[in-house]
Amino acid sequence: MPKTKSGADVLIRPLEEGDLDAADHITRLAFGTFLGLPEPATFMGDTKYVHTRWKANPDAAFCAEVDGELIGSNFVSNWGSVGFFGPLTTHPKMWDQGVAKLLIEPAIACFEAWGTRQAGLMTFAESIKHVNLYQRFGFYPRFLTAIMSKPVAPKVNDEGIQWTKFSDVPADKRARMLEICREMTDSVYQGLDVRIEIMSVASQHLGDTILLWEGGKLTGLAICHCGAGSEAGSGICYIKFGVVTSGNGAAERFAKLVTACEKLALQKGLQKLTGGANTARQEAYDLMFKLGFKTNRQTVVMHRPNEPGYNRPGVFLIDDWR
Ligand SMILES: CC(C)(COP(=O)(O)OP(=O)(O)OC[C@H]1O[C@@H](n2cnc3c(N)ncnc32)[C@H](O)[C@@H]1OP(=O)(O)O)[C@@H](O)C(=O)NCCC(=O)NCCS
Repeated sequence: MPKTKSGADVLIRPLEEGDLDAADHITRLAFGTFLGLPEPATFMGDTKYVHTRWKANPDAAFCAEVDGELIGSNFVSNWGSVGFFGPLTTHPKMWDQGVAKLLIEPAIACFEAWGTRQAGLMTFAESIKHVNLYQRFGFYPRFLTAIMSKPVAPKVNDEGIQWTKFSDVPADKRARMLEICREMTDSVYQGLDVRIEIMSVASQHLGDTILLWEGGKLTGLAICHCGAGSEAGSGICYIKFGVVTSGNGAAERFAKLVTACEKLALQKGLQKLTGGANTARQEAYDLMFKLGFKTNRQTVVMHRPNEPGYNRPGVFLIDDWR
């Protein structure tokens, strides 16, 4: 069994449903402590990651235990040819004991088992500890991801934009619709597949997925977490993943997709729209500002291997691997 630097045995095992509240507490405490909050355990308020991620894929969540006590966890996301991990956290009383390194190993094993082509993570650009930790495992720091937001306007004009919601797709047509979504994302980056996130939002009632249409063809989608209990939190519509088909007219399609997201936010009584823009996706990043977004926080993505993946010019995509 692996040991901490001070010699305690560490058990790394799958996270189970009964562990979720403890893992949720440590996640808040760890981030709140790192960020220097006066009451660290209250970090993120009514935003939920631990429970939602575990439910999305219980086979891709891991924890560390010392003397029967849960002391850290990590979650791995499978987007087809793309995979990432996080939130990764360890209890502050155990920091620098080597536990996070042990929790990265099962994430790497997932990527290998899934045949992930582009693995990655997002972290604090300013933290030498974080960047060095991940670099040991072959993740290389690349471009910034800006976490951006804009207030939802009191009126949103979506005239002429053809969009529907996944929640309106009848149960017997959902499998086919998911396949259409997969084909569309695959056209942007080979093998990219976010069906697990669409299903997670639908089955856990976390928000909705917007489907953008042109001439009967799906040309965009946006997976939105809405409000308390989701990855968004009260008053917020968080575009966890959004993309439009590349090529001619992509910028216009992207603007339409964002407008549809804002309309959804308005319909759900939410005040703020948020999403991530990687600066390597330069046209989409520029457009976010023109669409009224401002940057709230800057992070860095790290890639394994050190290749662009879908974080490159010409790709009109919103995500932040948080
Ligand atoms: C980030 C976090 C997960 C790290 O957990 P941890 O258990 O302390 O990490 P480990 O002890 O396994 O590894 C830390 C490594 O960073 C190295 N490190 C620390 N400071 C460093 C520095 N200034 N320069 C280079 N390396 C540094 C340590 O030496 C250690 O490697 P080593 O054991 O080979 O020496 C933990 O601090 C945490 O939960 N932070 C708050 C939440 C968070 O930020 N999560 C990650 C978001 S991406």
